[in-house]
Amino acid sequence: MPLVSLRVRRAVEGDLSALIDLENASFASDRISPRQWRWHLESDSARVLVALHERRLVGACVVFFRKGSDLARLYSMAVAEDARGRRVGEQLLEAAEQAALRSGCRRLRLEVRAGNLAAQRLYERNGYRRLAALPAYYEDGEDGWRYEKALSRTPAA
Ligand SMILES: CC(C)(COP(=O)(O)OP(=O)(O)OC[C@H]1O[C@@H](n2cnc3c(N)ncnc32)[C@H](O)[C@@H]1OP(=O)(O)O)[C@@H](O)C(=O)NCCC(=O)NCCS
Repeated sequence: MPLVSLRVRRAVEGDLSALIDLENASFASDRISPRQWRWHLESDSARVLVALHERRLVGACVVFFRKGSDLARLYSMAVAEDARGRRVGEQLLEAAEQAALRSGCRRLRLEVRAGNLAAQRLYERNGYRRLAALPAYYEDGEDGWRYEKALSRTPAA
């Protein structure tokens, strides 16, 4: 069942420790370090979004932009284990797409581990298409997939 009364907003410095806890709980490797989180929170070319349920941070994602490019990159996305399967990821994804559009981007791209079927289902359900296979893309040698979606201002009916 979707998590009701979920709020997605831009992250602030006060979210830092919850962001680090979520990152540590969600990823065994390729983690965003505390220093990188600080950098992303202040950067003009990154947007960190957090999902809150009853004031608890239950999800986060990071989008990167580049000046002069219409391509944004979803760099990271994680949902707290006890909140997974309740469409929190979908709401973060929607907010990431809106942020990309507001920054003048028309496409959102991301990479995902070949074995991460939950994430692939989330992206495919939301209109992302496989663009390329990425052999041994990850630090531990796992293959990946690159996905992309053309963004439109008017959501599909
Ligand atoms: C991938 C992730 C962000 C999805 O977030 P979410 O809020 O659970 O997303 P959704 O509710 O839309 O569910 C996505 C899929 O997860 C699967 N799922 C359902 N319940 C689940 C649970 N309790 N635990 C894990 N996955 C579950 C389902 O297959 C679902 O797809 P379906 O309902 O269409 O079959 C989340 O699982 C996560 O944080 N995983 C660990 C970090 C990660 O892999 N990040 C993505 C890197 S590309």
